[in-house]
Amino acid sequence: MAIPKILGISGSLREASFNTQLIKAAIASYGTADVEIADLNLPLYDGDLEAKGIPEMVTKLGAQIAAADVLIVASPEYNKGISGVLKNALD
Ligand SMILES: Cc1cc2nc3c(=O)[nH]c(=O)nc-3n(C[C@H](O)[C@H](O)[C@H](O)COP(=O)(O)O)c2cc1C
Repeated sequence: MAIPKILGISGSLREASFNTQLIKAAIASYGTADVEIADLNLPLYDGDLEAKGIPEMVTKLGAQIAAADVLIVASPEYNKGISGVLKNALD
């Protein structure tokens, strides 16, 4: 069977993030896998920036999502919602 490509997407940028740790633990339960953790330290969404050309980091994230067999997403709760970091990435 082919090795699954798993992309972890954490809504926290914190080095010791519980959400990132949770994603890594979930990935570990898969056994052998081709693993990447997305970098969500992206520029804030800005239509003017988009009109000038989509930033390379954003294009990379889109390609990682398209190539993945499995996405594992976790986000801290910030003020009763998902984190701004994850919301910005989704935007
Ligand atoms: C700005 C801010 C808002 C938060 N809002 C909530 C909340 O609404 N509910 C909650 O249970 N925890 C809230 N928290 C606590 C975080 O969800 C908690 O610290 C979480 O562990 C952070 O995730 P991380 O460990 O992956 O960085 C908030 C923390 C911050 C900094």
